Amino acid sequence: MTKAQLLILLSAALYTVSSNALSPDAVEGKGLYPACHVCHNQAMDPPLGPPMWGVQRRYKKNTLDNEDFVKRMVSFVKAPTMESAIHDEAVVQLGLMPPMPLPDEILNKIATYILEENFLPPCEHWRIAAKRAEEKGDIEHAKKDRNQLKRFCN
Ligand code: HEC
Repeated sequence: MTKAQLLILLSAALYTVSSNALSPDAVEGKGLYPACHVCHNQAMDPPLGPPMWGVQRRYKKNTLDNEDFVKRMVSFVKAPTMESAIHDEAVVQLGLMPPMPLPDEILNKIATYILEENFLPPCEHWRIAAKRAEEKGDIEHAKKDRNQLKRFCN
């Protein structure tokens, strides 16, 4: 193998590693994330907050870039309002999130972690939600949750 080939191989390997790795801020944010996980734990029955998988998707769809994602999330978490909430379904089902007035520096790191993490689809949550909806006779929601299960959880 030539030196050039070796370099290409090495950088490809490094790229694979770093594309899945969290930035230093996100690593710190991950350590602080249990403050959110108490409610955003997708396996909870009944749920106290929406799974972060869906929160992250909505934020990615509704913000301009990574900086906007973090900025909007931090300002929501400090002082949630109906106007700034974008997870309408969760607001209807669970009510508005209580404020978490933590220092900006901490919230920035947590939001950076939520931006970068590869959350697994919340299969447990959908199973619980579908069962609850069926018990209530809410066919529409049960169907929605079953569809998500089929789509993301096999
Ligand atoms: C006491 C429970 C609780 C805790 C703790 C909590 N959340 Fe929430 N969160 C909720 C609930 C309930 C909702 C759904 C209603 C809503 O969107 O306001 C929510 C929704 C959200 C949303 C979506 C907001 C939207 O646009 O509708 C974000 C972002 C969020 N939480 C971030 C966080 C972060 C970050 C933390 C930790 C610093 C955290 N939450 C801690 C209960 C909680």
